[in-house]
Amino acid sequence: MTELEIGFGYSCVLFRLAKLHSDRNFIGIEIDSTRMRHYENVLQKYSNVELVVGNVKSFIIKLESESFCRIHIYFPTPLPRNQRYFNKNFVYEIYRILEKDGAVKIVTDCLEYFNYIEKLFDNDNWMIVPWGKLEYITNMHSIVETDCERKYGSRYYSEWRKIT
Ligand SMILES: C[S@@+](CC[C@H](N)C(=O)[O-])C[C@H]1O[C@@H](n2cnc3c(N)ncnc32)[C@H](O)[C@@H]1O
Repeated sequence: MTELEIGFGYSCVLFRLAKLHSDRNFIGIEIDSTRMRHYENVLQKYSNVELVVGNVKSFIIKLESESFCRIHIYFPTPLPRNQRYFNKNFVYEIYRILEKDGAVKIVTDCLEYFNYIEKLFDNDNWMIVPWGKLEYITNMHSIVETDCERKYGSRYYSEWRKIT
């Protein structure tokens, strides 16, 4: 089983998941190489985590179909708008790389972006499901425990399951 985190920034959730699921593999993709350097030491301790520097738009099209059980996207950058990666093609790629019954979890503090993303998932390929608590969360007030959640709050969040 493999999980993917897109835009992990300075608070990658994958290490916390990797500690709990040593039988799974975890891949993170982040466009900013300075954020990547932050993990150099911790990465050495996890043989099941791989972090990649690059743009998810070109990275995702190279991934094998049906190869991920869960995709994490926490606080995708809403601005500038022309650098957003969410669009119809991106959601198609998310669909393609997820296993059947795989899930994508999205959190943002930007209502306008959230509404836009929700519309992209509004079709027969997806079913909205109750938010599945992340396994490392022990605090009732947190959803993902990332830097952005601490700064902006997890105002809008959803989980979709691939159904066809
Ligand atoms: C607002 S931060 C969120 C960081 C972290 N997920 C959190 O919740 O604190 C968004 C992250 O997505 C990264 N990002 C933005 N566009 C990207 C792209 N096209 N491909 C990969 N990463 C991207 C940014 O560099 C940044 O680290």
